[in-house]
Amino acid sequence: MSRTAVLVARAVFPEVVERLKQHFDVEANPDDTAWSRDELRARLAGKSGLLATGSVPVDAGLLDACPQLRVVANMAVGYNNLDIPAFNARGVLATNTPEVLTETTADFGFGLMLAAARRMSEAERYLRAGEWKRWRYDTLTGSDVHGATLGILGMGRIGQAIARRGALGFGMKVIYHNRSRLPAEQEAPIGARWVDKATLLAEADHLVLVLPYSPESHHAIGAAELAAMKPTATLTNVARGGIVDDRALIAALRERRIAAAALDVYEGEPAFDPGFLDLPNVVLTPHIASATVATRRAMAELAADNLIAALTGGTPPTPINPEVLAAR
Ligand code: 8YV
Repeated sequence: MSRTAVLVARAVFPEVVERLKQHFDVEANPDDTAWSRDELRARLAGKSGLLATGSVPVDAGLLDACPQLRVVANMAVGYNNLDIPAFNARGVLATNTPEVLTETTADFGFGLMLAAARRMSEAERYLRAGEWKRWRYDTLTGSDVHGATLGILGMGRIGQAIARRGALGFGMKVIYHNRSRLPAEQEAPIGARWVDKATLLAEADHLVLVLPYSPESHHAIGAAELAAMKPTATLTNVARGGIVDDRALIAALRERRIAAAALDVYEGEPAFDPGFLDLPNVVLTPHIASATVATRRAMAELAADNLIAALTGGTPPTPINPEVLAAR
């Protein structure tokens, strides 16, 4: 009897591929070759499962071309690369990797915010360029993080983890905006206060974006929102490219309408607007907020857990659309 076949679209820890091989015929991509959409479609033919990452789009056309596909395990918590309504319409399960990356991503988001406020990247460039000749009272002066007002847009798990760091570690006042308000018992320990978006923009000293990307959150921060922020404020994005209008942000940073920004994600990444490169007041990192060895391993293992459970009659631990399981 032929074994169930799965495709691993991107390079991943070899031991995770070995684990999948205990259950399935596995076609992997150890060299991390960039497959075109057509090549992905061809390789996916006859496969029941796909281990994908956030940079592998799966839409209705691909699902229609691969009717044998039953599950896509995304090695990411965000899943804007997956067309979930199309999955639901075809009864295909999608899974993601929540929880395992929360604290790691929050560490990085908080660190980026600190780096922007205290001008750390700019300071290092200054030192490396040999510009550090003498002390001056105003050299590379930034703004305080401790005691300042931390604004969080999108108060999910990662937003709450960043808020905890701010409130409990740095004595920050936390305000947030989210579609749904947290229960009072979750707000109280960190003194978090729900505010409308206009208040969030007006009052935050340091605004951090941690909301999922969707058509509704596209350009949630554009020229008007940037204009509503304090000129001394910083903006940090560890969520998704496209939530910020990058061209509007470049203009705001250039004209010092906000003090600084820190970005881990970009519209159209890995391409990004080269206008950022000319600006001293932006910290730029290449989408690495979850990139610790332990966390990437945990994400890969959880994606494998989901794939194995979905195709061997088990219960996938973190389904995105569990309703398709109920309908099976
Ligand atoms: C991933 C992420 O590195 O989990 C997410 O949503 O953005 C990152 O942790 C990336 O999406 C790779 O799949």
